[in-house]
Amino acid sequence: MILTPRSLGFWNTISRKVFRAEYKRPDDRDVKNRIAETFNERETAAYIHIPYCTGTCWFCPYARQPIPRSRVEDIIGRYVKYLKKEIKLYGELLNDKNIKIIDTHAGGGTPSLVPAKYWREIIEELTSSFDAEPIIAIEANPEDLKDEETAYSLVDAGIKEFSLGFQSFHPELLGRLGRRHSVEDSIKAYENLRSAGAKYINIDLMYMIPGQSLEQWIDDLEKAADLGPDEITAYPTLVLENSIGYKMIREGRLPEQPGMNMFKQMMYAAEDLLPQRGYIGLEIYGYSKHPDWKYVTVNYEMEGPLLGFGAGAMGFTGSYEYQNTCYPETYAELLSNDKLPVAFARPVSLEERAIRYTTCRLFICRRLDKKMFEKKFGRGFDDLVGRTGFKWFLKTLRLTGDIKEEGDQLLLTRKGLFTAHKITWAFVMNVPCRMVEECLKEPLPSSVVIP
Ligand SMILES: C[S@@+](CC[C@H](N)C(=O)[O-])C[C@H]1O[C@@H](n2cnc3c(N)ncnc32)[C@H](O)[C@@H]1O
Ligand code: SF4
Repeated sequence: MILTPRSLGFWNTISRKVFRAEYKRPDDRDVKNRIAETFNERETAAYIHIPYCTGTCWFCPYARQPIPRSRVEDIIGRYVKYLKKEIKLYGELLNDKNIKIIDTHAGGGTPSLVPAKYWREIIEELTSSFDAEPIIAIEANPEDLKDEETAYSLVDAGIKEFSLGFQSFHPELLGRLGRRHSVEDSIKAYENLRSAGAKYINIDLMYMIPGQSLEQWIDDLEKAADLGPDEITAYPTLVLENSIGYKMIREGRLPEQPGMNMFKQMMYAAEDLLPQRGYIGLEIYGYSKHPDWKYVTVNYEMEGPLLGFGAGAMGFTGSYEYQNTCYPETYAELLSNDKLPVAFARPVSLEERAIRYTTCRLFICRRLDKKMFEKKFGRGFDDLVGRTGFKWFLKTLRLTGDIKEEGDQLLLTRKGLFTAHKITWAFVMNVPCRMVEECLKEPLPSSVVIP
């Protein structure tokens, strides 16, 4: 089997229908006006995209380009100059809104490639352009943190949360993902971050790796839990048809992925094992030691508001969604002319935002609290979502026992967990991954239809 959108059958069809969207290329004045008009909540999250890696993993679905390690300083130094300019432009644009950035995450690509001195500059720009804490969370590749000095310098620069891309404790499985670090590098990176004083560390693991057995997956979960990170996230390996890995499986250069039944068994293995080791399932794929902390990005992306900075970043004011160009050269050129680097954008209605919120809370975070919904939207859940076709979808899932209602809460059941995985991964491959795919085709497309 290959875990492509098509392999998810019914859920793929549903998600293609529900999340169909059309984006247009706006002119600079229009985009600035729309963002300024629609950014109306004081508290927001921020996301910074670093579109560079030192190589290409075979199943990577993200917006990034490979650069040689010898050119990191030079290429990233130039990129950071424009990143700071973008942050400053947004600070000026939203100056009278009194915005407070409550959480900043950097993803990629590989944020751990950015030298500490540049992180200091980025944080300085954020705190001078906005009311923001000088703290940041980043995704990190073990390759970069295996030497102590880098880990210490990043923590010292103000990076307090790290999400480390371990993926597996089996060297042959790392090889089948095209990873460029060893298991020893991952463990060393973890230890370095701990001794440097990182506040929170998440470890990313992947399952459904070509040729992976259930025993290997259970061993990976056990070994990750033995290290004792603050959180363990377990992602199934998603395969887009434009990836190198897809071609390699089709040509027989890599074994197939485990089948659908094994997907289910591997997913429930994480669900059963991690809570026994003291981890709480806060998301369907994320297990934290702390009831009140997780390496959170999905809520901001789905629910908004989110300020997106960097080539390939997405932003969402709550009623307007925009995608920056994925081409660093175009990004630099637009910013050097004082233009926002937005490639395409679209308005999002209140009903659609409510459906996004519901999808995120119920199918990813396992529960939806109707009181919190009402606080966020100023309208009752039944009044707002109950008027959309989504209510029939939820009714069906109640009848099939995938979700249940308890007081003010809608809850995902144990049975519903696998359904939620299929819904989530069909959405991820059809929406954000498709946006990246379109964005990588040309720097500034005139319009884009998803999926
Ligand atoms: C942007 S990467 C993290 C930082 C760094 N780029 C790295 O890979 O180490 C985010 C995470 O996505 C996960 N990931 C990568 N490719 C994936 C795929 N094809 N399907 C599902 N998850 C994937 C990995 O667990 C990875 O750590
Ligand atoms: S998985 Fe991470 S390190 Fe690998 S190419 Fe993608 S973004 Fe880069």
